[in-house]
Amino acid sequence: MPNNSCSRILVTGANGQLGQCLKDVLASSSLFASRQDLDITSQEEVLRYFKNHKPSLCINTAAYTQVDLAEEESDQAYLINAEALKNLCLACNELNITLVHISTDYVFDGKKDEAYSEDDLVGPLGIYGKSKLAGEEIVQSMANSYLIMRTSWVYSEYGKNFVKTMLRLANQKDEISVVHDQWGNPTYAKDLALALKKISEKNLEGIKELYHYSHDGKISWAQFAEEIFRQKGLKTKVRPIETKDFPSNTPRPSNSSFSKDKIKSDFGIKIPDWKEGLSRCLECL
Ligand SMILES: NC(=O)c1ccc[n+]([C@@H]2O[C@H](COP(=O)([O-])OP(=O)(O)OC[C@H]3O[C@@H](n4cnc5c(N)ncnc54)[C@H](OP(=O)(O)O)[C@@H]3O)[C@@H](O)[C@H]2O)c1
Repeated sequence: MPNNSCSRILVTGANGQLGQCLKDVLASSSLFASRQDLDITSQEEVLRYFKNHKPSLCINTAAYTQVDLAEEESDQAYLINAEALKNLCLACNELNITLVHISTDYVFDGKKDEAYSEDDLVGPLGIYGKSKLAGEEIVQSMANSYLIMRTSWVYSEYGKNFVKTMLRLANQKDEISVVHDQWGNPTYAKDLALALKKISEKNLEGIKELYHYSHDGKISWAQFAEEIFRQKGLKTKVRPIETKDFPSNTPRPSNSSFSKDKIKSDFGIKIPDWKEGLSRCLECL
């Protein structure tokens, strides 16, 4: 695929963790719109913003990401994760540009033992996953040119995430209970941002594809916590517990590891090992 030269990439949800990582890696000519700059739920605002700023590509990282709260706030979750996609699709179609939309491993029910590929059947368990799947479906039915990027277990030096929570708890406790029966692939958001940068440099005109991106290595949350403490030289112990003993009623997939064969072969994206990605993030914390 040839290079996409004169790029003016719009990143929505720019104050989120992936948004901030994109700010670190994309050219300064890009447009970084926080929720305050651009509320993607307002069709009028979205169309006006696109008309005024004329982006050459839109990467939508804006999302309702509170998995537990989504069970009580389903209207909000659907509004931001699904309905708002109609506005972005309309605006991208109007400008004849590609919408790169970020989605999640929570579109799967987790019952498969092996890694999930892009062709596997979806079956979200909770409202968050259902609203994100509804968003994917809107993009697939409305956008003239789109790339949906599913990712999983995202962490970074920014915002709220598992790595930062574990480090905070390690300051307060000698032992932390962490579930050991949910399996997946962690993703350092900076590496996802670099992958998106590489992809955005290609000519994406007319693309209609779905991809998976995460780090390599299928692990449990308990193993993730142990490695965070090991790399930080902390003595904090991890007590492995079962999901049923964790204080949350929100259903989560027990396996959500991804196959990355498609993104590797189509875009030549290299997938880092999860421990190596974690060590680069911990250097920033
Ligand atoms: N975090 C994960 O573990 C994970 C895993 C799989 C997939 N993903 C997906 O990856 C993407 C990026 O996630 P993230 O971790 O960077 O999420 P994040 O840190 O929660 O960032 C999401 C951003 O979207 C903004 N936002 C919410 N509603 C908006 C609206 N109506 N208009 C414009 N912006 C709005 C939020 O602003 P406020 O802060 O003001 O609300 C926040 O800055 C999302 O699509 C998410 O579903 C994340």
